[in-house]
Formats: sequence, structure tokens, C-alpha cells
Amino acid sequence: MILVMGLGYVGLTTAVGLAYKKNKVFGFDVDADKVSKIKRGSMPFLEPGVGQALQATLKTGHFCPTMDLASAVRDSKVIMICVGTPSTPEGVDLKYIYAALDGILPHIKGRKVIVIRSTVPPGTACGEIAGFIESRGFKVGRDIGLASNPEFLREGSAWADFLEGNRIVVGASDKKSLGVLRGIYRGFPGTFLQVSLTTAEFVKYLSNTLLATLISFSNEMATFAEHLEDIDVKTSFKLLHMDKRWWGQPASMAAYVYPGCGFGGACLPKDTLAMLRSAESRKFPMPLLKSVLEVNTQRPQAVLKQINARADGKMTGKRVTVLGLSFKPNTNDVRHTPALPIIEGLLREGAKVTVYDPVAMADFQATGAAVTYAPSFEQAVKKAQYVVICTAWPQFKKVFTMFPKARIIDGRYMGEPQAARRRE
Ligand SMILES: NC(=O)c1ccc[n+]([C@@H]2O[C@H](COP(=O)([O-])OP(=O)(O)OC[C@H]3O[C@@H](n4cnc5c(N)ncnc54)[C@H](O)[C@@H]3O)[C@@H](O)[C@H]2O)c1
Repeated sequence: MILVMGLGYVGLTTAVGLAYKKNKVFGFDVDADKVSKIKRGSMPFLEPGVGQALQATLKTGHFCPTMDLASAVRDSKVIMICVGTPSTPEGVDLKYIYAALDGILPHIKGRKVIVIRSTVPPGTACGEIAGFIESRGFKVGRDIGLASNPEFLREGSAWADFLEGNRIVVGASDKKSLGVLRGIYRGFPGTFLQVSLTTAEFVKYLSNTLLATLISFSNEMATFAEHLEDIDVKTSFKLLHMDKRWWGQPASMAAYVYPGCGFGGACLPKDTLAMLRSAESRKFPMPLLKSVLEVNTQRPQAVLKQINARADGKMTGKRVTVLGLSFKPNTNDVRHTPALPIIEGLLREGAKVTVYDPVAMADFQATGAAVTYAPSFEQAVKKAQYVVICTAWPQFKKVFTMFPKARIIDGRYMGEPQAARRRE
């Protein structure tokens, strides 16, 4: 049996959806009026599809809204927390999560799995929430399983998003809890994706902040376009959507929503700067574009920081091999390549730098950087103490089988996902 705490958009959809899948589900909310309304089969908010399923699951007895928290906790193996996590000036207010935990922990006898479905900042479950539970005498992972299972539904299409979502992201403190959640989601078409607790929390923010950034980007560009006049904003965006990189499965636009050493080449740096300057010359601020360029300048520094950390800050005399000089694979174009600031940084710190690129070495020589050009990939890697991947040439993947992983700085995220630190 499952108890859902908080019967708002996420909680009620989750509770009714799980009941619809023939689980026995209790639904609890501190708002007694809301609970009695739901008990009568009446929706507290508009959400197409949920209302009908609510009535059906009340009738079959699979869904049981209740104000009797003690019995619901006692009779449930899994408790899903779906309460609100509003903003505060400092960040996120977790008071409803703590209140929910305060409500359930005194009634816990025997092992339960507590699942956080509310959106909480990365690290909250492993940190504050685990700490709160353990302060009440339970050992997380042993007495209580803790899981993070963020919800990706959109209001207005919550029912289909919950039942037919394509990804079910779960992080858990222990294998047993993970197994319990796997069982709950067995009948769902979405892929069950096991990650660390903190990765699960992060993915939710990764998703929402990208959406927010895209909307603000569109608005910033539209505001400037309106300022310029003679631009048909609506058509411009329709034409943008016709870029074939949006299409296909997976859409190749995904390559642009992937971290690396920063963008380079002949177009993106030049054109982003041109747009920004054009706006600035008209006294028109474009803070997002400005930040886009700033982040791109900072990114090679972040890669350098990683190399430094691996070498305990002692770079002098270290043999570092940089794999990849072109700004992206399948080209010899080294204009604005992020490999250059990375190499310059390494040289400044006294490292001995060897480089290798299948096609871009001749072009890179024009930079005059004091590096050794290796005649082959194997030669480049052979005597290195550290290897830095700067361009995602597919053939560089073999470095992961021939060089110690701990000394590879995977600037393009080409290797296997890093093992997540987990509370087992
Ligand atoms: N609304 C969305 O589209 C959406 C989508 C994905 C994730 N989320 C996240 O899910 C969480 C819930 O969002 P929501 O929109 O469903 O919120 P909501 O405000 O609609 O519902 C929260 C419910 O929790 C109840 N509650 C508060 N304290 C409680 C307690 N101690 N015990 C039991 N119930 C309690 C409230 O009475 C309320 O009914 C948030 O963290 C939100 O960020 C929301």
C-alpha cells in the first residue's frame, strides 16, 4: 500500500494514477476541506482526465482519501511526499516537507520507503532530509529507505504526463527501496532510470531551468527585435523552429544541450558577440546573451581547475596530453577553439603539453603555442600523466580502456557516467 502526502497537482495525480494502476493508495492532506471534497469525487482544481479517474478509483476502493494519518502510515509500505516547496528569498522553503515528516515519523513501525516527489534542491535528500529522519532515531537505508522520484508532469496534461511519461527517474538510499519503486512503476510505459538521489533531484532542475532559459532567451531576442522594427517576430520564431535539428529521435539539437569545454568555431562566438554589440550600441541591454559569452569564457577555466585539482595544484613539469584541437569533431577548424585557452592555461602553470588531433594539428600550429605535436593517438597518450579531452572525436573513446580513468579529464563527457556516490 502507498500513502501520498499532499493532494495538490502532483500528489492527487500521483495518488489517482497509482490507484488507477490497481495499487491501494491512501491520500492525506492537511487541508481537511480538500480531503472531504476529494472523497466526494470532486476535483479541487482543474486537471483534465484526473477527475474521471478519481471517481473510478474511489468506486473500486483503490483510492482512499483520509485524515487518519496514523492508520495510513501503519498500513503503507511506501510514503510519497508531494507537498509544496515554495521559494524564499534564500532559496527553497522545506517547512512543508519537515511538517509532513513530522506527521509520519511518529507512526512508523517496521521498514518504510519515503519517496520525495516534491522538487527540492540537489543534495536535500542526502543532506537535510536524511539528517531530519536520523535525528528522530531512524537509520536511513536500514530502518527507512529514502528515495527521490521527481515529477515531470505539466499542469493541463498531468494525467497523460504521469501515466505515459517516457522517463521515471529514481534515486534511492538502498537497493531494497529501489526494488520497491521498480515494482510500483512496473506497469508504466516509461523507462525506469536508476540514478543517485542527488542526480534525481538535479535532473528536475536541469529540465526546468533549461525551459526557463529558453523562454527568457526568446523574450530577450523578441524585445530587441521589436526595438529594431521591421522584424516579423512571429515568423522569425517559426523559421527558427524549422531548423531540422529540432526534429528526429533523438533530435540533434540535443548536442547543443550538452556540456563540454565551451563553444567555438567561426560562427557562434562571432555572431553572439555581434548581436550583443549591436544591441549595446543602441543602448539596449541583452543580459542573457552577455552571460552566454561570459559562461563560454569561463568554461575552459573550469576545465583547467579540474586538471589542477587532479594534480593537487602541482602542474609544474607535469606531462599533460590534450586530445582534440578543433572546436568540434569532423572539422579542422580551430578558430575560437576552447582547446587554446586550456592549453595556454596549462603552459602558464608550467605543464609540458603534448597535443593530438586527427586533422587539426597543422592549423593549430599557427597559434604558436609551445606544445609537442604527437604523431599518433597512441604516442600522445603513452607517456602522459594526465589526458584532457577537448574535442569529442569518437576515436578518443578508446582512451578510457588504455589510460587510468582517474587521470583523464573528460572535458566532453565522452566516457561512462561517473559512479554516483550513494548511501547504500
Ligand atoms: N505543479 C506542477 O506542475 C509541478 C510539477 C512537477 C513538480 N512539482 C513540485 O511538486 C511539489 C508539489 O507541487 P503542487 O503543485 O502539487 O503543490 P500544491 O500546492 O498544488 O499542493 C501541495 C499540497 O500539499 C498539502 N500539504 C502541505 N503541507 C502538508 C503536510 N504536512 N501534509 C500533507 N499535505 C500537506 C497542501 O495542503 C497542498 O494541498 C512542489 O515541490 C512542486 O515544485 C509541481
